[in-house]
Amino acid sequence: MIALGSDHGGYGLKQEVIKHLQEKGIEYKDYGCYSEESCDYPIYGKAVAEAVAKGECEQGIIICGTGIGISIAANKVPGVRAALCHDCFSAQATREHNNANILAMGARVIGPGLALKIVDTFLETPFSNDERHVRRISMLE
Ligand code: RB5
Repeated sequence: MIALGSDHGGYGLKQEVIKHLQEKGIEYKDYGCYSEESCDYPIYGKAVAEAVAKGECEQGIIICGTGIGISIAANKVPGVRAALCHDCFSAQATREHNNANILAMGARVIGPGLALKIVDTFLETPFSNDERHVRRISMLE
């Protein structure tokens, strides 16, 4: 189960992500927002982060205008490693090295074509489980 969240700036791209996940048969839960009306990104970053931290969802995808504010909010929740990625290399590396459990993107930074490739890369890349990466991640907690 993938937790989804956005503010108004990320709402449109989140709809593209939802369509994409539906086509791939991937289950998701949308924690809001639910329209393009102006709203506050910390609410949705926190909601997705708590869903992942509690184990309600295995991973999350969060989107605001830049991806910055919503990723800062998500990373306040213990156990969450939200990675802001605007390229596939970073999405792959953060899964392999950081075992990132939330992908953050900025809808005003990249277009939907690249965003959906980044989503696929993030969801399909396993953690490396290398000892050095396990050690470094444990140091984050
Ligand atoms: C909203 O205008 C914008 O500030 C927000 O989407 C995000 O970019 C914050 O980091």
